[in-house]
Amino acid sequence: MNRINSLSDLLMEELVDLINAENQLIEALPKMSEISQAPSLKTVLEDHLEMTKKHAGRLQDIFNKIGQQPQVRICEAIKELVVESQDIANRSEKGSARDADIINVAQRVAQYEIFSYQTAREHAADLGHTRMVELLTDTLNEERAMNLHLNELAQNRINVQATSPLHSSQEAGQQKDISSPKEGGFYMPKGKFGRKGIKKKYKSKDISRFIDEGNPNIQESQEKGKEDL
Ligand SMILES: [Fe+2]
Repeated sequence: MNRINSLSDLLMEELVDLINAENQLIEALPKMSEISQAPSLKTVLEDHLEMTKKHAGRLQDIFNKIGQQPQVRICEAIKELVVESQDIANRSEKGSARDADIINVAQRVAQYEIFSYQTAREHAADLGHTRMVELLTDTLNEERAMNLHLNELAQNRINVQATSPLHSSQEAGQQKDISSPKEGGFYMPKGKFGRKGIKKKYKSKDISRFIDEGNPNIQESQEKGKEDL
C-alpha cells in the first residue's frame, strides 16, 4: 500500500479496496449459489452477482475517468468472508440450515460493502468530486436494497426453519406451512417486501434523499455541478 498523505490518497485506497472486493465476489457468488438449495435464494445470489459485475464496472469507469488503473491489492476483509463461504458446504447440512448460513455470510458481505461505499462517497463529496459521488450513490443504493432483501429472506423463513425444534418434522413436510407453498419450501416475500417491492421502494431518489439528509458535504458537492470526478 502507498503511504497515505491526503484525503485524496485515502479515497484512492478505498476505491482500490472496493474494486478488489467486487472482483472477489464475482468469483465467490456463483459458488455460493451452487451450494444453496432454495430456488429463491439462488435467484437472490444470481441477482447479487449481476449487481456486483455492474459495481465493478462503475468503479472501473471511475478509474478510467481519473486516468489511472487500480493497483492490485487484496481486500482482506472480503477475502476472509470468501474463505468462510467456501467452508459452508463442509460445516452446514444441505437444506435450510445451509441456506441460512449462506445468507449470514452474504449479509456480512453486504454490510462491509455498504459501510465502505458510504465512507468513499463521503470522502468524494468532501473533495468535491460530483460525478464520483453520483456513481458511488447509485451503488450504495443498490447495496442497501440488496441487504434489505437478504434481511427479509432471513427473517421470514430460512432462520425459522433452521432454528425451530420442529425443524426435522417440518423438513418431512409435517408442519403447517407458515407462509404458503413456495419454491423449495422457501418463503419469498411478496408485496412491498418482495423483490419488485423492495426494488421499487428503495429505488434511487428515495434512498438518495434519505442518505443525503444531514450530509452538507454531499449536498454541496451535488449542487456545485462540477464535471470532474
Ligand atoms: Fe457490490
